[in-house]
Formats: sequence, structure tokens, C-alpha cells
Amino acid sequence: MLLLPFQLLAVLFPGGDSEDAFQGPTSFHVIQILSFANNTWAHAQGSGWLDDLQILGWNSESGTAIPQKPWSKGNFSDEEFAELEKTFRVSLYRLSQHLPVYASQFLLKYPIEIQAIVGCEQRAGGSIVTFFRKAIGGLDFLSAEKDTCVPAPEGGSGAKYVCKLIMTNHAVINTVMKLFFDNCPRYLLSVLDAGKSELQKQVKPEAWLSSGPSPRSGRLLLVCHVSGFYPKPVWVRWMRGEQEQPETQHSDLLPNADWTWYLRVTLDVAAGEVAGLSCRVKHSSLEGQDIILHWGHPISIGLIFLAIIVPSLIFLLCLALWYLRCR
Ligand SMILES: *[C@@H]1O[C@H](CO)[C@@H](O)[C@H](O)[C@H]1NC(C)=O
Repeated sequence: MLLLPFQLLAVLFPGGDSEDAFQGPTSFHVIQILSFANNTWAHAQGSGWLDDLQILGWNSESGTAIPQKPWSKGNFSDEEFAELEKTFRVSLYRLSQHLPVYASQFLLKYPIEIQAIVGCEQRAGGSIVTFFRKAIGGLDFLSAEKDTCVPAPEGGSGAKYVCKLIMTNHAVINTVMKLFFDNCPRYLLSVLDAGKSELQKQVKPEAWLSSGPSPRSGRLLLVCHVSGFYPKPVWVRWMRGEQEQPETQHSDLLPNADWTWYLRVTLDVAAGEVAGLSCRVKHSSLEGQDIILHWGHPISIGLIFLAIIVPSLIFLLCLALWYLRCR
């Protein structure tokens, strides 16, 4: 029993064992998507993310970043930031020039979709690691850390070739990678600091119940919706009394537009066994005051209030009036 609160903490604060543990994001990455319809037509998309929160967009017409937050540039000066934008713009341009040559050399078929993720992450001890991953046509192509490039098995001879270019410093992407790897840790720390109040906020979830489509006859699908919470770690279970129901199913965590999260937790149960079931929600913003919603309780607290408190008050009022009149 003593262990229970600690297990709970581990669920609520993964990766940290004290209550002060930083709960916001710990990584920054840029996603680049280049789509080639044929050897003359390419379209670029870009975005910048703190874990799964978007802080930068990319205007492919002007080749500039679109800050999504007032603090999206961290403590980088406009000049420093413009320099990074320029490097990105140039690398996209060069890649779109080189790809057709590469495509004909390795017999790639159009349309060709290239996805790249480059970023850095702060680990538990405080050290920051950088990473780079590239995929072509939805298949892993290569990955790189500071000084090594690893071709993915799916990338075949093409990936080996490109890795060799990177390692010998001849590839275009090498300059971008170097620039990015050199700047990413400072950018990550400064943007985490600049956006601190928003990144470390606590927003309470709202929860409500509904019934889903009946799985098969004689059974019910109970749905517990939990929405609008931040940060992401949350614990939601269907319970019977204090007993967790092991058949509880969780949806993926889905983002709301305002940087909060939504989760749907369902229980497939025999229609005759719904009595006594409740949905229980634990979240750091609730400070231990779990949300508990009981299934099919027609008598709400409000009704109890109306049925007991209001008549009592009326009775007391009458008593007081009667007393005053007697005097
Ligand atoms: C290349 O693709 C674009 C967009 O789909 C199209 O408009 C253009 O005509 C194509 N060009 C060639 C040479 O096939």
C-alpha cells in the first residue's frame, strides 16, 4: 500500500521522481517535407516543434519561418534567426536541384516524397543530444548523430552512397546538419526558458460520459471523454468501486487546437453490469482531487441539494417567522 503513491507519481510524472520535475517538453525538432511531382516540380513544407507542440511554421513562397508564438525565436536575435532561415532555404533549393540527378542515378520513380527530421533533445542528466533522420517514400533512409551517418537497411545502396557523401563532407545537407547541430542546444534551452509560463502551465481536464455504439447485443460501450488538459501525462480508468477494470481501452491522445489534449477511454461491458461503474481521472493540475464520474446516476448532487437542503431551509424559515409572530 505504501508503494501506491509512488507508482502514481511515476504515472503522472514520467521521467521525474520529484514534484518539481520539469513537466514541459524536452526536445526541439524541425520537420521538412519535400514533394517532387516530377523532375522539375517540387514543393517544400516545414515546421518546428517542441515535442508535439508546434512553435514554427514555414512559408515556402518567401522561404521564411512563421513564428507561432511571441517567444518562438527564444533569445536568438533577428539576424541569427534570419541566418538559420537562409541556410534552410538554400539547402531546400540545393536539394531540389540535386535530387533529379540522384533519382536518375538510383532509378527512383516520381512522385518522390522526402521527409527529414532534425533536432535535439535534453536527456535526464541535462546533456543534450542531436539527431537527424531522413525517409524517402515513407521508408527510413538514413539517420545521423554528431559524427556518424547510418544508412537504413530499407535505404539500400542509395542510402549508403548518401551517407558516404555526408561523412566525406561533400553533401549539401552536411552544412545544414552542422549548422543545426551547433545551434540546436542553445535554441532549445532559450526557447524553453522564453516560453516557460506557457510550457509549464497546468490546465484542468473536463470529463464527461457517453455511450458508444453497442459492440454486440446485450453489451454496452461506456465512453469517458477527458479533454482540455495540459501537460500531457494523464491517468484515466474505468473503475468498479476501488477496482480498476482491466478491459479499459485508451484512444491515442489527440491534440486540441489550444495546446491541450483530448483522451477517450472506453469500457465494453455487459448491459446488466453497469451499476457501480465510474470513470476516474488523475492529472497533475487536479492536485490529488481526482475527477470521478459515476455511470447512470440519475440523482446528481444538485438534485440531492434540492431534495434535502431546500425543504429544510423553507422549514427553518417558517419556524423563524412563526417564532417572530408569537413574540
Ligand atoms: C510536373 O508536375 C507539375 C505538378 O503536378 C505539372 O504541373 C507539370 O506539368 C509537370 N511537368 C512535367 C514536365 O511533367
